[in-house]
Amino acid sequence: MTAEPLERFFDRHEQLTAPVPHPGPLLLRTAHEEDLPELQRLDEEVFQEVAYPGFLLRQLYDMYAEHLLVLDDGTGRLRGYVLAATTALDRDSWILGLCVTHDRRRHGLGRELMEAVLDRLRRTGIQRVRLTVEPSNRAAILLYRSLGFRPEEPDAGLRPDYFGPGMDRQVLRLELTPGT
Ligand SMILES: CC(C)(COP(=O)(O)OP(=O)(O)OC[C@H]1O[C@@H](n2cnc3c(N)ncnc32)[C@H](O)[C@@H]1OP(=O)(O)O)[C@@H](O)C(=O)NCCC(=O)NCCS
Repeated sequence: MTAEPLERFFDRHEQLTAPVPHPGPLLLRTAHEEDLPELQRLDEEVFQEVAYPGFLLRQLYDMYAEHLLVLDDGTGRLRGYVLAATTALDRDSWILGLCVTHDRRRHGLGRELMEAVLDRLRRTGIQRVRLTVEPSNRAAILLYRSLGFRPEEPDAGLRPDYFGPGMDRQVLRLELTPGT
Protein backbone atom coordinates (compact mmCIF):
# COMPACT_ATOMS: atom_id res chain seq x y z
CA MET A 1 0.00 0.00 0.00
CA THR A 2 1.28 3.50 -0.79
CA ALA A 3 2.32 5.52 2.21
CA GLU A 4 0.04 8.39 3.16
CA PRO A 5 1.96 11.60 2.49
CA LEU A 6 3.13 13.26 5.64
CA GLU A 7 4.50 16.52 6.74
CA ARG A 8 7.54 15.78 8.82
CA PHE A 9 9.13 18.17 11.25
CA PHE A 10 11.81 16.84 13.51
CA ASP A 11 13.65 19.98 14.55
CA ARG A 12 14.86 23.23 13.11
CA HIS A 13 17.62 21.50 11.19
CA GLU A 14 15.63 18.74 9.53
CA GLN A 15 12.43 19.69 7.83
CA LEU A 16 10.65 17.82 5.08
CA THR A 17 7.27 18.68 3.69
CA ALA A 18 4.95 16.64 1.51
CA PRO A 19 1.59 17.18 -0.24
CA VAL A 20 -1.39 17.54 2.09
CA PRO A 21 -3.60 14.44 1.89
CA HIS A 22 -7.25 13.83 2.76
CA PRO A 23 -8.46 13.68 5.58
CA GLY A 24 -6.01 16.25 6.83
CA PRO A 25 -2.32 16.74 7.22
CA LEU A 26 -0.39 14.87 9.83
CA LEU A 27 2.85 16.13 11.24
CA LEU A 28 5.46 13.54 12.16
CA ARG A 29 7.55 15.20 14.87
CA THR A 30 9.33 14.58 18.13
CA ALA A 31 7.10 14.69 21.20
CA HIS A 32 6.95 17.73 23.48
CA GLU A 33 6.34 17.75 27.21
CA GLU A 34 2.87 19.27 26.59
CA ASP A 35 1.96 16.17 24.54
CA LEU A 36 2.08 13.88 27.56
CA PRO A 37 -1.62 14.01 28.56
CA GLU A 38 -2.74 13.42 24.95
CA LEU A 39 -0.11 10.73 24.53
CA GLN A 40 -1.48 8.93 27.58
CA ARG A 41 -5.02 9.23 26.22
CA LEU A 42 -3.89 7.82 22.86
CA ASP A 43 -1.98 4.98 24.52
CA GLU A 44 -5.07 4.07 26.57
CA GLU A 45 -7.32 4.28 23.50
CA VAL A 46 -5.16 1.78 21.62
CA PHE A 47 -3.65 -0.44 24.30
CA GLN A 48 -6.42 -0.26 26.93
CA GLU A 49 -5.54 -2.45 29.94
CA VAL A 50 -1.90 -2.75 28.87
CA ALA A 51 -1.40 0.99 28.34
CA TYR A 52 1.50 2.66 30.11
CA PRO A 53 0.61 4.42 33.36
CA GLY A 54 1.01 8.19 33.12
CA PHE A 55 3.94 8.32 35.51
CA LEU A 56 5.90 5.82 33.42
CA LEU A 57 5.19 7.68 30.17
CA ARG A 58 6.49 10.81 31.88
CA GLN A 59 9.74 9.09 32.83
CA LEU A 60 10.13 7.45 29.43
CA TYR A 61 9.73 10.90 27.90
CA ASP A 62 12.39 12.29 30.25
CA MET A 63 14.85 9.59 29.20
CA TYR A 64 14.06 9.02 25.53
CA ALA A 65 12.35 12.14 24.15
CA GLU A 66 14.60 12.19 21.08
CA HIS A 67 13.25 8.76 20.17
CA LEU A 68 9.60 9.51 20.92
CA LEU A 69 7.90 10.50 17.66
CA VAL A 70 4.25 11.41 17.28
CA LEU A 71 1.72 11.93 14.50
CA ASP A 72 0.04 15.28 15.19
CA ASP A 73 -3.21 16.01 13.31
CA GLY A 74 -3.07 19.73 14.14
CA THR A 75 -6.29 19.75 16.18
CA GLY A 76 -4.72 18.79 19.49
CA ARG A 77 -5.05 15.09 18.75
CA LEU A 78 -2.22 12.64 18.28
CA ARG A 79 -2.92 9.81 15.82
CA GLY A 80 0.07 7.61 16.52
CA TYR A 81 3.42 7.34 18.16
CA VAL A 82 6.59 5.31 18.31
CA LEU A 83 9.01 5.13 21.21
CA ALA A 84 12.48 3.60 21.33
CA ALA A 85 14.70 3.22 24.37
CA THR A 86 18.46 3.02 24.00
CA THR A 87 21.40 1.85 26.07
CA ALA A 88 24.63 3.82 25.97
CA LEU A 89 27.06 0.98 26.59
CA ASP A 90 26.29 -1.71 24.04
CA ARG A 91 24.52 0.29 21.32
CA ASP A 92 21.35 -1.67 21.95
CA SER A 93 17.75 -0.47 21.78
CA TRP A 94 14.16 -1.58 22.22
CA ILE A 95 10.99 -0.36 20.59
CA LEU A 96 8.72 0.20 23.59
CA GLY A 97 5.61 1.43 21.81
CA LEU A 98 4.10 1.77 18.36
CA CYS A 99 0.54 2.57 17.40
CA VAL A 100 -1.69 4.31 14.89
CA THR A 101 -5.31 5.16 15.67
CA HIS A 102 -7.89 2.86 14.14
CA ASP A 103 -9.20 5.45 11.68
CA ARG A 104 -5.72 6.07 10.23
CA ARG A 105 -4.50 2.51 9.79
CA ARG A 106 -3.43 0.90 6.50
CA HIS A 107 -2.14 4.17 5.06
CA GLY A 108 1.54 3.56 5.62
CA LEU A 109 1.75 5.54 8.86
CA GLY A 110 2.99 2.68 11.06
CA ARG A 111 5.74 2.09 8.54
CA GLU A 112 6.57 5.84 8.44
CA LEU A 113 6.87 5.94 12.23
CA MET A 114 9.07 2.85 12.32
CA GLU A 115 11.30 4.00 9.47
CA ALA A 116 11.72 7.42 11.09
CA VAL A 117 12.73 6.02 14.47
CA LEU A 118 15.02 3.38 12.93
CA ASP A 119 16.71 6.13 10.95
CA ARG A 120 17.25 8.13 14.14
CA LEU A 121 18.61 5.09 15.97
CA ARG A 122 20.98 4.29 13.13
CA ARG A 123 22.27 7.85 13.01
CA THR A 124 23.02 7.83 16.75
CA GLY A 125 25.16 4.70 16.37
CA ILE A 126 22.68 2.11 17.62
CA GLN A 127 23.47 -1.30 16.17
CA ARG A 128 20.63 -3.54 17.36
CA VAL A 129 16.90 -3.02 17.79
CA ARG A 130 14.63 -5.47 19.55
CA LEU A 131 10.93 -5.48 20.34
CA THR A 132 8.25 -7.75 21.67
CA VAL A 133 4.96 -8.46 19.96
CA GLU A 134 1.93 -10.56 20.77
CA PRO A 135 2.35 -13.73 18.69
CA SER A 136 -1.21 -13.28 17.32
CA ASN A 137 -0.65 -9.64 16.24
CA ARG A 138 -0.43 -10.37 12.53
CA ALA A 139 -0.51 -6.75 11.36
CA ALA A 140 2.40 -5.71 13.56
CA ILE A 141 4.43 -8.84 12.80
CA LEU A 142 4.01 -8.34 9.04
CA LEU A 143 5.09 -4.73 9.40
CA TYR A 144 8.15 -5.62 11.48
CA ARG A 145 9.18 -8.46 9.19
CA SER A 146 8.88 -6.22 6.14
CA LEU A 147 11.34 -3.87 7.87
CA GLY A 148 13.82 -6.72 8.33
CA PHE A 149 13.06 -7.80 11.91
CA ARG A 150 13.49 -11.53 12.55
CA PRO A 151 12.68 -13.74 15.57
CA GLU A 152 15.43 -13.79 18.17
CA GLU A 153 16.39 -17.37 18.97
CA PRO A 154 15.83 -19.63 20.82
CA ASP A 155 12.35 -20.99 20.13
CA ALA A 156 11.65 -18.68 17.19
CA GLY A 157 11.57 -15.77 19.61
CA LEU A 158 8.58 -17.14 21.54
CA ARG A 159 8.67 -16.26 25.26
CA PRO A 160 5.79 -17.76 27.22
CA ASP A 161 4.47 -15.60 30.09
CA TYR A 162 6.94 -12.86 29.16
CA PHE A 163 4.80 -10.11 30.71
CA GLY A 164 3.16 -12.39 33.32
CA PRO A 165 0.87 -15.42 33.26
CA GLY A 166 -0.77 -15.86 29.86
CA MET A 167 0.98 -12.83 28.38
CA ASP A 168 3.22 -14.54 25.84
CA ARG A 169 5.34 -12.46 23.53
CA GLN A 170 7.61 -12.98 20.56
CA VAL A 171 10.96 -11.17 20.55
CA LEU A 172 12.03 -9.80 17.18
CA ARG A 173 15.40 -8.33 16.37
CA LEU A 174 16.98 -6.15 13.69
CA GLU A 175 20.68 -5.46 13.19
CA LEU A 176 21.21 -1.91 11.96
CA THR A 177 23.87 -1.31 9.37
CA PRO A 178 25.49 2.13 9.53
CA GLY A 179 24.68 4.34 6.57
CA THR A 180 21.85 2.19 5.15
C1 LIG B 1 0.63 -2.26 13.87
C2 LIG B 1 0.15 -0.88 13.42
C3 LIG B 1 1.02 0.18 14.11
C4 LIG B 1 0.33 -0.75 11.92
O1 LIG B 1 0.04 0.58 11.54
P1 LIG B 1 -0.50 0.94 10.08
O2 LIG B 1 -0.33 2.39 9.90
O3 LIG B 1 -1.87 0.40 9.88
O4 LIG B 1 0.51 0.12 9.18
P2 LIG B 1 0.94 0.45 7.68
O5 LIG B 1 -0.21 0.98 6.92
O6 LIG B 1 2.17 1.28 7.72
O7 LIG B 1 1.27 -1.00 7.12
C5 LIG B 1 2.60 -1.46 7.02
C6 LIG B 1 2.59 -2.95 6.81
O8 LIG B 1 2.08 -3.62 7.96
C7 LIG B 1 1.32 -4.75 7.56
N1 LIG B 1 -0.06 -4.55 8.01
C8 LIG B 1 -0.54 -3.48 8.67
N2 LIG B 1 -1.82 -3.67 9.00
C9 LIG B 1 -2.16 -4.89 8.53
C10 LIG B 1 -3.34 -5.67 8.59
N3 LIG B 1 -4.46 -5.20 9.17
N4 LIG B 1 -3.33 -6.89 8.04
C11 LIG B 1 -2.23 -7.37 7.42
N5 LIG B 1 -1.06 -6.67 7.35
C12 LIG B 1 -1.04 -5.45 7.91
C13 LIG B 1 1.44 -4.85 6.07
O9 LIG B 1 2.59 -5.66 5.81
C14 LIG B 1 1.69 -3.41 5.68
O10 LIG B 1 2.38 -3.31 4.48
P3 LIG B 1 1.52 -3.14 3.09
O11 LIG B 1 0.60 -1.99 3.32
O12 LIG B 1 2.58 -2.89 2.10
O13 LIG B 1 0.78 -4.44 2.93
C15 LIG B 1 -1.35 -0.64 13.76
O14 LIG B 1 -2.09 -1.72 13.25
C16 LIG B 1 -1.64 -0.51 15.24
O15 LIG B 1 -1.52 0.58 15.81
N6 LIG B 1 -2.06 -1.59 15.90
C17 LIG B 1 -2.43 -1.57 17.31
C18 LIG B 1 -1.22 -1.37 18.19
C19 LIG B 1 -0.19 -2.44 17.97
O16 LIG B 1 -0.49 -3.62 17.78
N7 LIG B 1 1.08 -2.01 18.04
C20 LIG B 1 2.22 -2.90 17.89
C21 LIG B 1 2.54 -3.47 19.22
S1 LIG B 1 3.96 -4.56 19.13
